[in-house]
Amino acid sequence: MEQLDGCWRGLRGLAAAVKASGDSAGARWGLDLDRGVVVSPAASGQARGVEGVDVWIDARAGVEPPEGDGRAWFVDEGGPRLSEVRAGGLSAAAVSMLGLYGVYALSALRARRLGRSVTVGHFAQSLDGRIATATGDSRWIGDRANQVHAHRMRALCDGILVGIGTARRDRPRLNVRHVEGDDPVRIVLGGHAGEVEGLAGASGAPLWLVGAGEARGVEVIEAEGAVAPEVLLRLFFERGIETIYIEGGQETTSGFLAAGMLDVVQVHVSPIVLGGGQSGFALDGIERVEQAVRFARSAFVPVGEGVMFVGVGPLVGR
Ligand SMILES: NC(=O)c1ccc[n+]([C@@H]2O[C@H](COP(=O)([O-])OP(=O)(O)OC[C@H]3O[C@@H](n4cnc5c(N)ncnc54)[C@H](OP(=O)(O)O)[C@@H]3O)[C@@H](O)[C@H]2O)c1
Repeated sequence: MEQLDGCWRGLRGLAAAVKASGDSAGARWGLDLDRGVVVSPAASGQARGVEGVDVWIDARAGVEPPEGDGRAWFVDEGGPRLSEVRAGGLSAAAVSMLGLYGVYALSALRARRLGRSVTVGHFAQSLDGRIATATGDSRWIGDRANQVHAHRMRALCDGILVGIGTARRDRPRLNVRHVEGDDPVRIVLGGHAGEVEGLAGASGAPLWLVGAGEARGVEVIEAEGAVAPEVLLRLFFERGIETIYIEGGQETTSGFLAAGMLDVVQVHVSPIVLGGGQSGFALDGIERVEQAVRFARSAFVPVGEGVMFVGVGPLVGR
């Protein structure tokens, strides 16, 4: 198996192992990237001796990384984060895949601590910050590599969420097609069940609509008007959704950001200019630059022909 394939299978296996692990304080996992499987040795001493384990992951906070090459080290503290990948035996592409996605495979741990689903919001935007033209067209601002990235995130999350505006305009199928992986539960906010009935067959995964009406293949969570994001995330968590990928649009993602309920922001920046249209975020009450949303941690990651901003822990409303 190619190392990158093994890496991706290992990450998916890790997300599934974390999901199945219940209360995981102190949990540890090893990834065998040759076979693309997760191994869970009982103790660190044994783990170091396990043959073929390329990556060793420890979700405990405040623990020093073990000695040795080829270890990834993730710390679940204030949001999981990668603190170290040692590249021994790993290709550069494998290291960057682990670095980018490893933390999301551990996000369920944070959800359990918070008692709500954790969220990652994603947009593809132009250089001038537009996620759609003035007519609402947004296909495809991001390139193929961005689509592959988004599908990896869908596969690592329990749920994918969009607003009804995006469902109406783009008819996204909300499934996993560009990579190997399972489809997440599809969640649409707003509107009527009949408007999304056509999406039902695009995936074997459930389709939930927070809104009104009834339609075949759509489970309606009845709601009138806007529902506070925190209320939604507690409800989804109770239904077993620990991690949610939010794919817009502006109103939906901005609502989560303003409520302090967007844990990670991913913005893919394409090398194009649209000169007008809809911006990714719309927030009230920012009059001075010092009031801007800032991030506890952030990085720019090359993706295809563009670059992706990843911001963890947005600080809103200062
Ligand atoms: N480039 C990209 O990455 C990207 C990604 C996604 C979308 N887009 C573009 O964005 C545009 C759509 O964005 P948009 O802002 O118009 O629409 P949107 O955010 O997709 O949907 C807005 C609707 O969602 C519902 N909603 C949102 N938050 C809710 C909450 N907390 N509780 C209940 N319902 C909630 C409301 O429906 P009700 O009014 O029925 O209550 C609201 O009118 C399209 O042009 C699309 O192409 C671009």
